[in-house]
Amino acid sequence: MNFHIVSIFPHYFESPLSSGLMGKAVDSGLVNLDHVDVRHFAGGIHKSVDDRPFGGGPGMLLKLDPMVKALDSIEKPGRIMMMSPRGKPLTQARSRELSQEEDVTLICGRYEGIDERLLDLYDIELVSVGDFVLNGGEAGAVCLIESVARLLPGFMGHDDSGEEESFSAGLLEYPHYTRPDDWDGLKVPEVLRGGNHGAIDQWRRECSLETTLNDRPDMLPGASLTVEDIDYLRTLSRTRLGRNLYIALCHYPVHNKFGEKVAVSVTNLDLHDMSRVARSYGLGGFYATTPIEDQKALAEQLLNHWKEGAGSIANPDRAEAFSKVKVFDDIDSVVLDIQEQTGQCPRLAATSARLDRRKQAEPALTYEEVQGWLAKSPVLLIFGTGHGLAEEVLSKAAGILRPVRYLDDYNHLSVRSAVAIIVDRLIADEY
Ligand SMILES: C[S@@+](CC[C@H](N)C(=O)[O-])C[C@H]1O[C@@H](n2cnc3c(N)ncnc32)[C@H](O)[C@@H]1O
Repeated sequence: MNFHIVSIFPHYFESPLSSGLMGKAVDSGLVNLDHVDVRHFAGGIHKSVDDRPFGGGPGMLLKLDPMVKALDSIEKPGRIMMMSPRGKPLTQARSRELSQEEDVTLICGRYEGIDERLLDLYDIELVSVGDFVLNGGEAGAVCLIESVARLLPGFMGHDDSGEEESFSAGLLEYPHYTRPDDWDGLKVPEVLRGGNHGAIDQWRRECSLETTLNDRPDMLPGASLTVEDIDYLRTLSRTRLGRNLYIALCHYPVHNKFGEKVAVSVTNLDLHDMSRVARSYGLGGFYATTPIEDQKALAEQLLNHWKEGAGSIANPDRAEAFSKVKVFDDIDSVVLDIQEQTGQCPRLAATSARLDRRKQAEPALTYEEVQGWLAKSPVLLIFGTGHGLAEEVLSKAAGILRPVRYLDDYNHLSVRSAVAIIVDRLIADEY
């Protein structure tokens, strides 16, 4: 496989790409490294490759002309990739895909980057090696070359070595041990020394599942899991952000479609669906607020029917969900209740279907921000009925969460749907 490396520092690659298995692959001709030094293509007496950016700003840019000449000098460039923090992430799947190619060209940026017009001239894929900024693309190119080359047949002693590694099956890898089996009392797990291959495979799978759940739970949605895997995952302890999350459905004060302040009546449907979300996601609690006596009585009657009356006999799971619901006059009393239960004052986030367009308005809260709160303290998420929460409720909150589908022109969801979507996004897991 040929890597054409376009850089202003070709010597950068000397040590990393000549060591260990990589060095052997280069010596054996399995991998061919073709260094294209951009400086050779620079004009003028100073052979300068950089210049100042139009529009001002810090730093310098790699000039277009030497880059174009450098790229044009490559006879068979194959896929052209440019290392860039703006790129799509380098993943094991992408490396595997690239290992099928005969030629790959890697452009390494330096300074503040490269004149953007290079992207208009060639079909270039941007690749990032992580959400951080390096001085240049060379270190990233080394990562890419190594991760691709080691998947080439003949690179490793056993060609299946790449199959069982982290990310290959959508999970992190299990731990490894070598001799001695007892190092100053630190023993290698018994199962690995017993010779029972079925038991070893099961132990390794379980370790992979556990490490992934603990360290990279974001990988689980993409992992192919058997029923046995899922049963095993269920036995493991998990961090449950949901325990800190409380939801409130406010029936007063809210707006009607004319922008007037009104009270909206309690509905059976809202209580059912929101309590089931609260129970399914293991939330701290669900509050329905209304100061109107007959509405409170109606809500209590509904709750009692399902918690203790005929409903509880027909549907015991509904009784379980309704055990999470409390009816209070207003948000202030909900805050006091949470404070009494947890010993902490909850942080309040309001929800709205509309962006706050007032001039002085703070930017909408992101899900990440509220997740940060949830890791530290209880959070009360307030949902409105009617046409949304009135100003006096909104002003109690530290902010308004970004509306669901805020980039689209239609986002008129029922409050029940919005609750389900928002809670799912905030808890942000499927585990
Ligand atoms: C100092 S960086 C330029 C950063 C650029 N101004 C930005 O903010 O996106 C110089 C070069 O390093 C490389 N580079 C930096 N961080 C990278 C990353 N995370 N992944 C891939 N390449 C990176 C790119 O080739 C980039 O052009």
